Amino acid sequence: MNEVADLFTLKGRVTVVTGGTRGIGEMIATGFLQGGAKTYITSRKADACEAMQKKLGEFGECVAAPFDLSTVEGCEAFTAFIAEREDKVDVLVNNAGASWGEPLDVFPEEGWDRTMDLNVKSIFFLTQKMLPLLRAAAKAEGRGRVINIGSVDGLTIPQMENYAYSASKAAVHHLTRVLAKPLAKDRITANAIAPGPFVSKMTAFLLGTEAGQEAVGNQLPLGRIGAPADMIALSTFLASPAADYITGTTIPLDGGYTNAR
Ligand SMILES: NC(=O)c1ccc[n+]([C@@H]2O[C@H](COP(=O)([O-])OP(=O)(O)OC[C@H]3O[C@@H](n4cnc5c(N)ncnc54)[C@H](OP(=O)(O)O)[C@@H]3O)[C@@H](O)[C@H]2O)c1
Repeated sequence: MNEVADLFTLKGRVTVVTGGTRGIGEMIATGFLQGGAKTYITSRKADACEAMQKKLGEFGECVAAPFDLSTVEGCEAFTAFIAEREDKVDVLVNNAGASWGEPLDVFPEEGWDRTMDLNVKSIFFLTQKMLPLLRAAAKAEGRGRVINIGSVDGLTIPQMENYAYSASKAAVHHLTRVLAKPLAKDRITANAIAPGPFVSKMTAFLLGTEAGQEAVGNQLPLGRIGAPADMIALSTFLASPAADYITGTTIPLDGGYTNAR
């Protein structure tokens, strides 16, 4: 037996990654599959789901299906889809998120509602709907996991005018702590990752070129932007037995942006 390998394995786990069709969700799903988990991913676009299921299938058993998680009905429908196929969910990663940038004087209600509905409301209601599946995993395996994706913009004053986004991410971090208390009774942990800059569609306006990546990286204490391996390492750790004793916390994954500037 290799005790260290056992601590970090995801073999036999059923994992769910929302927004798993690109960017950070794709990174997390890739790591989970490589760690041995069966992984469900979702996003709104059916063609993106189909393409990513095919791509990630190279690493393990990946199932993708389209749902809009910004409504409670969407959260219920996605949960029902999984419940038809699985009797437990070991790890739920609430990653799907959206941002909206506009100046203070003209920031619209639509931008506020869209951001809050997906970034905050969907995390609460998807977790609520998935509770029976998470509890079933905790009963069978002795542990369950909720991992929420926040942002350094919820920990620091953002550089962009993204009022709803940064407020939503602060809410994600606090909701994580609030959820951790009742979930602990069921041996389900709830933690958040607060990423700094990672290449994705959301950050393409800033990190879409190598020059942009270098310029942003140079502003960070560790001198570079986040790499897929950084995201895989932390999400796999939090999902694995190695993180059994950690709950209610938010971990910045940001090259020192939050705590070492
Ligand atoms: N990239 C960064 O530097 C960074 C930094 C800090 C925090 N984050 C956070 O990390 C998470 C992932 O961001 P990302 O950068 O990877 O963004 P992204 O490339 O825009 O990916 C977002 C994912 O969410 C899905 N999605 C969007 N709206 C949805 C909805 N209503 N229902 C279900 N799925 C939906 C998207 O697919 P569809 O469009 O097909 O729905 C996509 O798969 C977000 O929570 C973001 O706030 C990112």
